[in-house]
Amino acid sequence: MKREWMDILHHEKVATDTYQMVLNGDIPGSGIRPGQFVHILVDDNFFLRRPISIADVDEQAGTLTILYKVLGKGTKSLTAKQQGDKLDVLGPGGNGFPMEELKTKRALLIGGGIGVPPLHYLGRQLVEQGIEVISVLGFQSKEYIFFEKQFNELGEVYVATNDGSYGHHGFVTDILPGLEGRFDTYFSCGPAVMLKAVSKELTGYDGYLSIEERMGCGVGACFACVVPTPESDAKGYRKICRDGPVFKPEEVVL
Ligand code: FES
Repeated sequence: MKREWMDILHHEKVATDTYQMVLNGDIPGSGIRPGQFVHILVDDNFFLRRPISIADVDEQAGTLTILYKVLGKGTKSLTAKQQGDKLDVLGPGGNGFPMEELKTKRALLIGGGIGVPPLHYLGRQLVEQGIEVISVLGFQSKEYIFFEKQFNELGEVYVATNDGSYGHHGFVTDILPGLEGRFDTYFSCGPAVMLKAVSKELTGYDGYLSIEERMGCGVGACFACVVPTPESDAKGYRKICRDGPVFKPEEVVL
């Protein structure tokens, strides 16, 4: 991983508790894969960096787009940063989606809440490779929705809200049966409970899960992000930050 100071080019609230930040400068590491994340040092008051997933990268322009949700004091402080401020960025972390191994022609992206941003970068790369993309996005309610327009530019989009204030009333998994036969590989990112339901619903399909929750240090130094695996020996767990966050459904027990 590389550490760089990047300038904040743009910072705005895009939905309730959700902010988009565009960073400009030397991007830490090259060839960043969708699903990887960066570690942001908010300021000296916070010892731990915040792992934040990457929503887009433009290496030529030197920009990195991240979206984050306000979940505690660190991310709350991050909201005060302004255009022109500098941020200490370490990255990229994690493994990301195995882009070079993909054989898919028709992809289904399934994102929940703050698990949506990495799927945007993934979707953009898939479309560039000539792969057809359908997206299913789930949010708490209308006020939490973001990036619908950006996903519309990639292909067909279905939105579900838990309270029915926009799109389908319910969960992303309710929409999946209607899409049967229209994709060969699925890519999902969101909370473990959603990923569990998605992988159960799509048993038999080739799939990838990116686990978006339960991170502490973000560099493999603590055990905050451990996820069990089907093996019961010493290999019976994986660290999401170091071994993931992308896993095949059969690799982890959610
Ligand atoms: Fe600390 Fe993964 S978050 S080991």
